[in-house]
Amino acid sequence: TGNVTLDVGFVNTASCKSSITYIDGDAGILRYRGYPIDQLAEKSTFLEVSYLLIYGELPSTSELADFTERIRRHTMLHEDLKDLLQAFPRDAHPMSVLSAAVSALGTFYQDSLSITDRDQVELSTIRLMAKLPTIAAYAHKKSQGQPTLYPDNQLGLVENFLRMTFGFPAEDYQVDPVVARALDQLFILHADHEQNCSTSTVRLVGSGQANLFGSISAGIHALSGPLHGGANSAVLSMLADIHRSGDDVDTFVKKVKNKEDGVKLMGFGHRVYKNYDPRAAIVKKSADAVLKAMGVDDPLLDIAMRLEQVALTDDYFIERKLYPNVDFYTGLIYKAMGFPTDMFTVLFAIGRLPGWIAQWREMIEDPATKIGRPRQIYVGATERDYVAADAR
Ligand code: CMC
Repeated sequence: TGNVTLDVGFVNTASCKSSITYIDGDAGILRYRGYPIDQLAEKSTFLEVSYLLIYGELPSTSELADFTERIRRHTMLHEDLKDLLQAFPRDAHPMSVLSAAVSALGTFYQDSLSITDRDQVELSTIRLMAKLPTIAAYAHKKSQGQPTLYPDNQLGLVENFLRMTFGFPAEDYQVDPVVARALDQLFILHADHEQNCSTSTVRLVGSGQANLFGSISAGIHALSGPLHGGANSAVLSMLADIHRSGDDVDTFVKKVKNKEDGVKLMGFGHRVYKNYDPRAAIVKKSADAVLKAMGVDDPLLDIAMRLEQVALTDDYFIERKLYPNVDFYTGLIYKAMGFPTDMFTVLFAIGRLPGWIAQWREMIEDPATKIGRPRQIYVGATERDYVAADAR
């Protein structure tokens, strides 16, 4: 294996050059295309940030209007794709449904599968941005045994998604602007995060020149695990468990420190941030504000705050530089909005989609791109002779 270097988990290996997202993990800095995340979260919108990530610059008013309009025209799903969604078991995890449906888009839209034709890549981009919220809402409706709603294209992307998720046919569903703005902001915070597990997956699959739908479908599965996007659901289950056990935060933290049964403090720690995750700081403020605005008094918020307090002053967490990450407080907001726990990671996927697309496009357009193909250190048996079955 010559001069191959072992780097389990790619802790020190850069797989590409990228001009999309900048992170300084020690300083707790995150920027999309140079713009600080706190400015974008406060002043921008999810669609504007999506444009920024995918095309590299903030859009002019007419560019944003055009982007929004193109997405608006693609929000419907093919009726046969709806049938496909209906075929899944009702208790299917919505992340599996999401990934399967995105993969299936490649069968419905064979006219935009080319990876070298820019117009086709653009069309796939718009189709994904438009259809993922519809697929997500339908996955939720399916799990509830409720009828689906067609998209209402008078509404913006987030409002439309909320209506398709929580509305009923022939009923006038009014979107709460506080909820819509909070969700839009959460999507901005999740929109990209350089070469994380799911984004690296999207790039790796795409590096073999698989189409955009297939690459994103793989990324959705990568996101689903509890160490990655699935952490937002896992945090809520953890908080609920602590609540059921009589709010005993100290005993739980002791368990984590003793690594009993591999218990971790979910929503804490990050491969890159060795300081407070700047996204978590924004989410924490927003959790407090949104829950108040919605009149929700959730005892789990109190437990989360106490957990954070205990962890931030405990040597175990200080020595290992473990701080709350973006997933620590998001679940509480999603819960207050009425989403079931299983849907939390789906919301992460909707937010992360423009980042995945931007990274995939950057890779395809980069002449330096090669197929991703890590090496290994072989530690198995040396050469030995085949033995017939009756002689083993
Ligand atoms: N609770 C308790 N101990 C932890 C935690 C935690 N959440 N995270 C890391 N540690 C310990 C770990 O056991 C190790 O201890 P020791 O040195 O004694 O063996 C040390 O801290 C270093 O951790 P690591 O596992 O080597 O770090 P990593 O960079 O491989 O893992 C991580 C990063 C995010 C997977 C990990 O911190 C973790 O599992 N956190 C909980 C799950 C989570 O919240 N994931 C969401 C990440 S942010 C958003 C996203 O990616 O989706």
